[in-house]
Amino acid sequence: MNKKRFTVTSALPYANGPLHIGHIAGAYLPADIFVRYQKLKGNDVVFICGSDEHGAAITLRAKKDGVTAKEIVDKYHKINKQAFKDFGISFSIYHRTSSDLHHETAKEIFINLKNNNRLTKKVSQQFYDEENKQFLADRYITGICPKCGHDHAYGDQCEKCGSTLSPDELINPKSTLSGNSPIKKETSHWYLPMQDHENWLKDWIENGLLDGENHHDPKNWKNQVLGQCKSWIDGGLKERAMTRDLDWGVEVPLEGEEGKVLYVWMDAPIGYISATKKWAKDNDKNWEDYWKNDSSELIHFIGKDNIVFHCIIFPIILKLNKNFNLPTNVPANEFLNLEGEKLSTSRNWAIWLHEYLEEFKGQEDSLRYSLCATAPESKDTDFTWSDFQARNNNELVAIYGNFINRVVVLTNKYWDGVIPEQCALNEYDKEVLESLSKYPQLIGSSIEKYRFREALHELMNLARLGNKYLADTEPWKLKKTDENRTKTIMNIALQVAASLSILSEPFLPFSSNTLKEMLNISDLCWEDARKQNLHAGTSIDKANLLFAKIEDETIEKQILKLKS
Ligand code: 2FM
Ligand code: ZN
Repeated sequence: MNKKRFTVTSALPYANGPLHIGHIAGAYLPADIFVRYQKLKGNDVVFICGSDEHGAAITLRAKKDGVTAKEIVDKYHKINKQAFKDFGISFSIYHRTSSDLHHETAKEIFINLKNNNRLTKKVSQQFYDEENKQFLADRYITGICPKCGHDHAYGDQCEKCGSTLSPDELINPKSTLSGNSPIKKETSHWYLPMQDHENWLKDWIENGLLDGENHHDPKNWKNQVLGQCKSWIDGGLKERAMTRDLDWGVEVPLEGEEGKVLYVWMDAPIGYISATKKWAKDNDKNWEDYWKNDSSELIHFIGKDNIVFHCIIFPIILKLNKNFNLPTNVPANEFLNLEGEKLSTSRNWAIWLHEYLEEFKGQEDSLRYSLCATAPESKDTDFTWSDFQARNNNELVAIYGNFINRVVVLTNKYWDGVIPEQCALNEYDKEVLESLSKYPQLIGSSIEKYRFREALHELMNLARLGNKYLADTEPWKLKKTDENRTKTIMNIALQVAASLSILSEPFLPFSSNTLKEMLNISDLCWEDARKQNLHAGTSIDKANLLFAKIEDETIEKQILKLKS
C-alpha cells in the first residue's frame, strides 16, 4: 500500500478562555477522528494545534480581568492543552504563538512578502480612542453590522452573520475601551492587495486547479465553504491591512515601525507552520516534508467563521512564499447551539470541556459520541442534555455496550475466557462474516468524505448487527444441547467485537482501548477489521463495563447548572 502523508490542522483557539462543546464539535473532534483513522490506515500524519495568543481577543480579556496579556495566555494555554489531552484529542503538538520560534517564523514570512513587493505601505485615517490613546481595529471597535443590523459587530467581523468587515463599514462605531465615539487619526500600515490574486484563487477554489494543474476535486469541498468563498471572490477582493498599532503580538520586523505588530489573522495560521517546525525538531523529522512536498496533503479543520482566512488570505500568503502546499480541503463546520440557543461565553450559556471532564470522569467517549452524532456538518445543530442522555443510554449502553458485555461474559462463563473454535458455519454465520468484512470500507469512505455522522452511524450498525446476531441465535439457550453451535456463534460474535474495537477507535478511543485490553489484542490496523482477528484457544480477559448509564438526576443537575 502506498503510504500517504497528511498535515492536519485544527484552528488555534484563542487562549483567552476555556473551551466549550461548540469549539470541540466544530474544529477538534472531527479532525481527531480523521487523524486517528488515517493513522490506523498506516498513513503518516502530523496533527497540529496550539494556542492563538495574540490579537484583541487576548488583550481585551486581560484588560477586563485587570491582569497582563501574558498572564491570560499562560493560564488558558495550560487549561486548554490539558482539556484537549484528557478528551483524547491526539495532537502531535500543542504549540503557542507567543513562542520565539513562532515570532521568527511569522517575521520571516512577512519580510519575504515585503521584499518581493507583495505588500504595499499606505497611510490612512483610522479610528482612534483619545481617552485611551489607542488606535481601534478589530475587536477594539464595535457598531451596527451594515449587512445584518446586529448591534454588536466588531471592526473585523460580525459574529451574527459571519460577514467580514472593516471598521469604516460599521454604523455608529464605538470604542470597546471607553465606549466613546472615536476620532480619526493618521497612521500607516502594510496591506496585502488581495485583488491581485482573484484569478488564480477563483480557478483554485472553483475548479480545483492550481497553476493549470489538478490540485484537488472541488466536489469534495463542502457547499457552504465553496459558497462563502465564491461570494467573497465575486464581491471583489480588496486590499487588507496586515499590521496593527498594538503593543502585543509579533512586532513588524522593520526599522521605524515600532509599536506595530502583525495582524493576528496573518500571524495565527503561520502558527501551524511554526508548530510543525517545533514538532519536527523534537521528533527528528523534516518540517518541509509536511508543508512543501506534493505528496503531502494539507487539511484545515475550522469553524465557519474562519473560512475566509483559511481559504483566501492564508492561501495567498502560502502561495507567495513559494513551494508551500495549499490546502486540499477546508472542511469547515457550522455552529452548534445548546438547548436551542446560541452558545455564549458572556452569558455562560455553554458546557465547558474542563468542567465536563471533571464531572463525568471516565465518560469522555459519551460526549465524543454525542457531539459526533449531532455535529453541525452541513447546518447549525442543537446539543441538548436529554439527547446526550438518550444517545448514551439507548445507543452506547443498550446496543454497543450490551453486545460486548454479553460476548465477554458468556465466553468467560462457558470456557473460562478461552476463545472457542468455529465449527460448521450456517448461512446466517456466513452472512454476518460477509457483512463484517465490508465495514472498514463503508466507515472509511464516509470519514474520507468528512461525513463523520454517517461514519458513526455505520459503526453503530455493526454493533447492531452483533447484537441482533446474538438475540436471533440465542447461544445461551443452546449451551446444554448443542456445544458446537454455541462455540461457533460465540466465536463469530467475538470476531465482530474485535472489529468493533478497531473501527471505533477514531470515534471512541477510550472504550476502544478498554475493549482491546479485554480481548487481548493490540497493533491491529484499519484493514484488519475486515478479517477474523481472534484465534481459538487464546484467552480474553474478564468483562469490564464500556459505558455507564447516565441517570435522570445527573442530567437534571446539569440543566439546573446551565440555567443558574
Ligand atoms: O477564531 C479563532 O478562535 C481564532 N483563534 C482561530 C485561529 S485559526 C488559525 F489561523 F490559527
Ligand atoms: Zn452581521
